[in-house]
Amino acid sequence: MSNDSSKLELAGKDYDLQVMRGTIGPDVVDIRKLYGQSGAFTFDPGFTSTASCESQLTYIDGGKGVLLHRGYSIEELSEHSSFMEVSYLLLNGELPSADELADFSYTISRHTMLHDQLRGFYQGFRRDAHPMAIMCGVVGALSAFYHDSTDISDPEHRKISSHRLIAKMPTIAAMAYKYSIGQPFLYPDNSLSYTGNFLRMTYGVPAEEYVVNPVVERALDRIFILHADHEQNASTSTVRLAGSSGANPFACIAAGIACLWGPAHGGANEAALNMLREIGTPDKIPHYIERAKDKNDPFRLMGFGHRVYKNYDPRASVMQKTVREVLDELNLDDPVFEVALQLEEMALNDDYFKEKKLFPNVDFYSGIILSAVGFPTEMFTALFALARTVGWVAQWNEMISDPGQKIGRPRQLYTGPTARPYVPVEKR
Ligand code: SDX
Repeated sequence: MSNDSSKLELAGKDYDLQVMRGTIGPDVVDIRKLYGQSGAFTFDPGFTSTASCESQLTYIDGGKGVLLHRGYSIEELSEHSSFMEVSYLLLNGELPSADELADFSYTISRHTMLHDQLRGFYQGFRRDAHPMAIMCGVVGALSAFYHDSTDISDPEHRKISSHRLIAKMPTIAAMAYKYSIGQPFLYPDNSLSYTGNFLRMTYGVPAEEYVVNPVVERALDRIFILHADHEQNASTSTVRLAGSSGANPFACIAAGIACLWGPAHGGANEAALNMLREIGTPDKIPHYIERAKDKNDPFRLMGFGHRVYKNYDPRASVMQKTVREVLDELNLDDPVFEVALQLEEMALNDDYFKEKKLFPNVDFYSGIILSAVGFPTEMFTALFALARTVGWVAQWNEMISDPGQKIGRPRQLYTGPTARPYVPVEKR
């Protein structure tokens, strides 16, 4: 990594700040010593201009709509790879050989079962509990069952807990769905693929054999690939911050799940489909576009806009193509897809959206596919969390292994009252 220097003048004094250059992407100004030298903080609510860490996992070029995982484009990975292979790539840095992939998939498949006492944990939830509430609770509770893999200073513990989290998320998500519809849980069937196993646990019943539909399996596996990792997004930053205190990996991933739930983040896929259904027919689209542009109306086009992408989210392009494939191959027709296509068309030709560089993001089309294959909207974000777990885990491992890592502790610009004496209640 090459370095240049830059000068900052503050209150009449000059400060030399190193400029660090990565392999691709924007340079960063190293401000680690700024407060010590100048007594001033930088100010960046929302971290719009802040690099929180160095990473080698995922690169996004928001202006060009580029997304790379360890250098491989999301277009090629979603076309040619599998979620298990992308998981191996994110965790290990290189695409696996056939034997390496087989070993990794075998290892993951041997961690798919949950400690059986956790089945009782589900009974504590109301039947109408949101699956994300269950995911937060159950994943956090894993740290009460797997004490043999919570020592984060032990690389073997980190590896086992990483594999446990990736392997058990489908089981936990499927159980959340089964619990919500009052059907019995199905145990994993390790003769199936990672995604096929999840489909069977979700839609299978003990009363009959479940046959995985290869079209649905491939589409869902591709959706998992599209959601695997995405640089330092809000939930990943949450996982890193939780991990920086030394919290165990299960607790850190539970924190990431909680953050992902928000409608501005992973909750947008559920909100986007609900919005498309509320719009209902193409003739209603102009009204909703005007609402999205109205500063006095809190309504936003869900599935549109992105902090980093100021061009088309490459994942949305793949998702749109996959919608067509799934609807055609399942011989389904969903009028909501037509609404989505026309909404996209109108928004992309509207000056407001063009000026603010608002394009469809990963959440705009995903719900149409998930709905087409039978998932209720409440499960959409749980599926996002299932897929993003490998990214969270890979980023957590990268942070723990970074010799320079320390507890994250941002400062603030204080604008509250200055020191003042306590006033007894009788004198107030
Ligand atoms: C994900 O970070 C990641 O990588 C996240 C993610 C991942 O893989 O981890 O990609 C997943 O979270 C995708 C985003 C899903 N969220 C949504 O689809 C919700 C709708 N989108 C917005 O809430 C918004 O676009 C955000 C939250 C995604 C981004 O917000 P920013 O970067 O803080 O931008 P902003 O809110 O400051 O918006 C800039 C301007 C504002 O107008 P002005 O105040 O400048 O006049 O654009 C407007 C916003 O009002 N705007 C929108 C809009 N999104 C932004 N106006 C209408 N509809 C929208 N969707």
